[in-house]
Amino acid sequence: MFVAVSIFEIANDMAEEVRQAFIQRPHLVDEASGFLGMQVLSPQENANEFWVMTSWTNEDSYKVWYKEHMKESHQGVPKGLKLKRESTKVRYFDKITK
Ligand code: HEM
Repeated sequence: MFVAVSIFEIANDMAEEVRQAFIQRPHLVDEASGFLGMQVLSPQENANEFWVMTSWTNEDSYKVWYKEHMKESHQGVPKGLKLKRESTKVRYFDKITK
């Protein structure tokens, strides 16, 4: 199993809107080939920070979704959202155990 973790921190006062956007996410990714599930986390010490973890059967499934469907899956991103530029990163993991 392959896991992609996207991390970002909101720079303006919009964390609640982002929280709601994730709760009401479009669920388009749910139909993507190889998609297994996602979790959206926010660390207790920083409500402006989000960790989006998506699990895939393999890395290629993720790459295909990212290349072809990333944009349509992000139409609900709140307008006017500003990110702390240095906070954004995507890290990739192989899952060792359940
Ligand atoms: C750093 C810039 C990013 C921001 C600000 C952001 C923000 C958001 C927000 C607010 C949503 C929920 C609303 C919507 O779906 O439109 C969302 C959905 C999602 N994001 Fe991101 N995202 C970012 C990058 C990424 C990256 C790099 C990945 C992949 C590793 C990712 C994976 C997803 C997935 C899988 C969904 C759910 C889409 C669906 O339900 O179809 N995001 N993102």
